[in-house]
Amino acid sequence: MIRITVDRSVCAGHALCAARAPEVYRLDDEGFCNSDGELVAPRLEAQARLGARHCPESAILLVDEPSPPGAGA
Ligand code: F3S
Repeated sequence: MIRITVDRSVCAGHALCAARAPEVYRLDDEGFCNSDGELVAPRLEAQARLGARHCPESAILLVDEPSPPGAGA
């Protein structure tokens, strides 16, 4: 699995992450990415990478995490 990390000091609210991957990234009331620390379901990993790649500020980093025992991923 992968975990989303968002550098909130870098995010400028471009919202391209959520536009490209609406099932993965959420924005807060002010339009900044609010998905820091969230795990991504395996079926959404490609979408998560796409959204991260389109962030003009490179604010999103996706970190590989070992699957929990018995997850069957
Ligand atoms: Fe922020 Fe980049 Fe998304 S600037 S709102 S993380 S596209």
